[in-house]
Amino acid sequence: MSKILIKNIKGLVQYGEDMPIARVGRDMLYLPILENAYLAIEDNVIVAYGAMNEWEGITDWRNVEVIDAEGKYVLPAFCDSHTHIVFAKSREEEFVDRIKGLTYEEIALKGGGILNSARRLAEKSEDELFEEALIRVKKVMATGTGAIEIKSGYGLSVEAELKMLRVIKRLKEALPIAVKATFLGAHAFPTEFKENHRGYIDLIINEMLPKIEEEKLADYIDVFCERNYFSLEEMEEILIAGKRHGLIPKVHVNQFSVMGGIAKAIELGALSVDHLEEISDEDIDAIKHSECMPTLLPSCSHFISIPFGNARKLIEAGLPIALASDYNPGTTPTGNLQVVFSLACIKMKLTPEEAINALTLNAAYAMGINNTHGSISLGKSGNVIITNEIPSLAYIPYAFGENHIERLIS
Ligand code: NIG
Ligand code: FE
Repeated sequence: MSKILIKNIKGLVQYGEDMPIARVGRDMLYLPILENAYLAIEDNVIVAYGAMNEWEGITDWRNVEVIDAEGKYVLPAFCDSHTHIVFAKSREEEFVDRIKGLTYEEIALKGGGILNSARRLAEKSEDELFEEALIRVKKVMATGTGAIEIKSGYGLSVEAELKMLRVIKRLKEALPIAVKATFLGAHAFPTEFKENHRGYIDLIINEMLPKIEEEKLADYIDVFCERNYFSLEEMEEILIAGKRHGLIPKVHVNQFSVMGGIAKAIELGALSVDHLEEISDEDIDAIKHSECMPTLLPSCSHFISIPFGNARKLIEAGLPIALASDYNPGTTPTGNLQVVFSLACIKMKLTPEEAINALTLNAAYAMGINNTHGSISLGKSGNVIITNEIPSLAYIPYAFGENHIERLIS
């Protein structure tokens, strides 16, 4: 049995019992912090916490790792509810094209973008993809990520989509953190199906989904609903088919245009709607009447120079938000959630407390693990973050570009 005792904690963040499933609207400003605290973890489960002066000591000190966290904060690990961390190759040539003036959409139309990544992925073996993704996940763990959702979507053929999902399944087995798998076969139409959407959708529905269910390869189903990608009607058909195979919708919508994708995804029971760089009042209204988590991806906006999601408008409408990285080679080549934290504060005007709620409790909800993650509560996951010695929690997004995480317990 492994036992860890963290003592003299400067601030135990997001702690308590009877946590809400998410913090919404003005409540996102609230972040419980217990000063001078201790936390005990047994076999990766939180078994006790409280004020240092109420700590009753330990009777059996055998096999206990004691960590002195004086001057340091302890937080529930960040949950990254939206990543494409399995990919074959970086795409810095597109980055340079954008510097020279092309937009993300223009680069995609000339064969770059998702199709570029799909060509590269077809050439790589499952083992290579696994090893490279494993290294990336370990890197993001060192920056505080303690649970991660990973999408397919660079396969775009039966064989390659299954290859990606098998890699994600192996990551689930190999990693000491929670991993959720999302099937994103509907990420783009492969070139050979450009004029034959029906043919590719049939492939998704008749060939991919049954195998995914048979091998239990995914938890969620995603569609990139956007002009030049999947229409509203195409998304609807694919999500309905995915649900028949036990997959819950969690979708890419409103990145470049407002198409009614939010309301449609919500009607189909989406757990989260992600991106939302463009949003209408009708979209906000649809989210208001739902259980769906709007998820914003500020590092994507930053990297490809598109508007930042209007976090303030959503929160002022009484809604929750989650933040995620969107780690992928095209629009967000980093999975560091401390970068997301800084951008959310600086560009979206979230307070540090709101951003921490969006990265912990609300993000855990957005990936369907709020029973076990997102807060320091008895019985929840012991994947917690210990910061460096820092003057305040606000120092994390303030001193951007540095890693303020000393250790992720895992
Ligand atoms: O979330 N927008 C769709 N998918 C990714 C980008 C994929 C890529 O360019 O490789 C995103 O930003
Ligand atoms: Fe994405």
